[in-house]
Amino acid sequence: MSFKRLIGTLALGAVIAFPAMADNDPAVETRQGQFKLFIHNFGVLGSMAQGRIDYDAGMAQTAADNLFHLTRHDQSRLWPEGTDSMSIDGTRAKPEIWDNLDDFVSKFGALQDAAEALQGAAGNGLEAMQAAFGPTAGTCQACHQAYREEAS
Ligand code: HEC
Repeated sequence: MSFKRLIGTLALGAVIAFPAMADNDPAVETRQGQFKLFIHNFGVLGSMAQGRIDYDAGMAQTAADNLFHLTRHDQSRLWPEGTDSMSIDGTRAKPEIWDNLDDFVSKFGALQDAAEALQGAAGNGLEAMQAAFGPTAGTCQACHQAYREEAS
């Protein structure tokens, strides 16, 4: 094989191998976008719960409705094997997720249950919303502690 052809072959190999190595794996970007939408909605409720903005029943209900629906998005194509933080850059998903998939799925289920309770309470006054907010935040935290790398 000529040198030029070898370089061409290597370059082609790099192009083919590149997506798996890059920061922009589509499944990773999409699940991170999903979590951004979680916090976009959950953050409003947190601000109200902590008194940083005034409680507004309509706004609280909309945010809780959104979170409820977001947590129903099917996860099956968002967590392909090999998209953990040891294998690729650009993700904080710990490899332990794939060693403990049942537990990971059950922690996601706990969020779904809490988001349903929050949806039922969010429009019923500040105290009712706060009472359902805390347990929901607990489900975010429980999964992050086990399965998300610290931000670097
Ligand atoms: C079942 C596990 C699990 C639950 C429940 C969970 N998260 Fe996460 N979250 C993760 C993992 C894993 C990542 C890292 C994803 C990655 O980088 O690929 C993450 C990342 C994030 C990020 C960073 C997204 C980015 O920009 O990269 C935010 C914000 C976030 N989660 C918010 C929340 C909120 C708010 C809740 C609760 C309402 C929540 N998460 C519930 C597992 C979870």
